[in-house]
Amino acid sequence: MQLSVKKGNAAREKTEALIGVFFEGAKQPEGALKGLDTALKGKISALLKSGDAKGKPNEVSLVRTDGLISSPRLFLIGLGKKDKLQPETLRQVAGTAAKVLKKYRLGAGTILLDTFLTPKFSPEALGEGVAEGARLGAYAFERYKTVREEPKKELEKITLLTDRLNPARIERGVRIAETVTDSVYRVRDLISEPSNEVTPPKLAAVAKEIGRKTGIKVTVLEKEAIQKLGMGGLLGVSRASHEGPRFIIMEYNLSQKKRPLFVFVGKGITFDTGGISIKPANNMEQMKYDMSGAAAVLGTLEAAARLKLPFRIVGLAPTCENMPGGHAYKPGDILKALNGKTIEVKNTDAEGRLILADALSYAQRYKPNAVIDLATLTGACIIAVGNFVIAGMTNNDRLLKKVIQSGESSGERVWQLPLWEEYSELIKSDIADIKNTGDGTAGTITGAAFLKEFVDYPWVHLDIASRAWTEKDLPYIPKGATGIGVRLLLSFLRNWKA
Ligand code: BES
Ligand code: ZN
Ligand code: ZN
Repeated sequence: MQLSVKKGNAAREKTEALIGVFFEGAKQPEGALKGLDTALKGKISALLKSGDAKGKPNEVSLVRTDGLISSPRLFLIGLGKKDKLQPETLRQVAGTAAKVLKKYRLGAGTILLDTFLTPKFSPEALGEGVAEGARLGAYAFERYKTVREEPKKELEKITLLTDRLNPARIERGVRIAETVTDSVYRVRDLISEPSNEVTPPKLAAVAKEIGRKTGIKVTVLEKEAIQKLGMGGLLGVSRASHEGPRFIIMEYNLSQKKRPLFVFVGKGITFDTGGISIKPANNMEQMKYDMSGAAAVLGTLEAAARLKLPFRIVGLAPTCENMPGGHAYKPGDILKALNGKTIEVKNTDAEGRLILADALSYAQRYKPNAVIDLATLTGACIIAVGNFVIAGMTNNDRLLKKVIQSGESSGERVWQLPLWEEYSELIKSDIADIKNTGDGTAGTITGAAFLKEFVDYPWVHLDIASRAWTEKDLPYIPKGATGIGVRLLLSFLRNWKA
């Protein structure tokens, strides 16, 4: 879907639909809607007066324009209360606009920026928020639909129209949103693809392609190199799969020695059967999204490079399948991670932490200022926090605070769970240094306590199991892969102050 910015008059705009917004409780059209109301002979006033359109967040009303203006229809979308207006409101409303255009099978629409009446945002921020929401809301994964019930019209273009604001400044925000959402699209595509398509070698090939396009240095380690290094976790988990493991290393800007260095690590299980501790058949197909962390890391590196962010950034993505079979690793096996620690495997379904153990150990060689890992690590995370927030745990509260703030500004919110020493007691093993499960309590935290054994730098663990997939359509996240993490990490980088 293309976005463009245009200066011009709403009543004369030739498009399939205009989209305007208004605050909850407005009894009459304000600002830019006033002029449009006059052109429409009071249709907007009548609608607001009737009480049918209340302006609740993301509520949509249709106004037929009966030839009074150039566009045949006007959608009015509620912004909610004026004092609650945030960047997230912009994204949600614009996402709702894209959704409505899709629902009506329209190919194009025009969002009236002047109706936002928001001195609260700079034109850049307004352009970025609206463009980001519109683009994210317009996303669809339809590659495998070959039979369509009716001729389908794609949503091809959304125009951001303004008469009062500086279009060049709006444009600047829109270009950033385009770069960011290009990467979110890529990440959502990678996650939505089934595991027979997105295999570990395929994920590595995509990383390579990103490298070619952006200049990021991409190195892919295959089984022999992984063995030589001593990544016992990744080797163990991948043993039964016919798809070999890969360890993906992406390095951006590393020669700029004075710049802060961040490492992002993503869990890349392209399919999680549970292995010998096999999962129930019900919903197992969802486990193609167990590589959401790795995909987010690839997408973040891509966008960071295209935005030319002034940091050194490393992306690490251990990737493999977790399969049962004659060669599979088994409960009771003992694996040795890259940092030399021994791990007793209690449950082969707690595999994410095993491959992350190697990746987090590998991260130490960069002497990073901060490391953030993203992983669909535990089902317990969904039980603990539902589907509204990412669970964050850390060995450095200051760092996690920054991540939480980035969550507020990006709309990819993070909530802290404790990671006290007590929890580490739960993963002590009788026979090895640690074991890969706790006692069944605090599953999300014991997962993090396990990872903590492999870090010696400021670190945040984000369990994204709760947010990587949505069963419901959200204002700017259609049902399915959310692409969570990319916008959070980019906002973390863009907000960074040491
Ligand atoms: N990939 C799963 C976690 C998961 C479950 C993500 C549901 C998204 C939705 C992970 O590998 C797993 O199976 N974890 C186990 C850990 C347990 C054995 C300690 C779990 O959550 O049950
Ligand atoms: Zn698992
Ligand atoms: Zn898993």
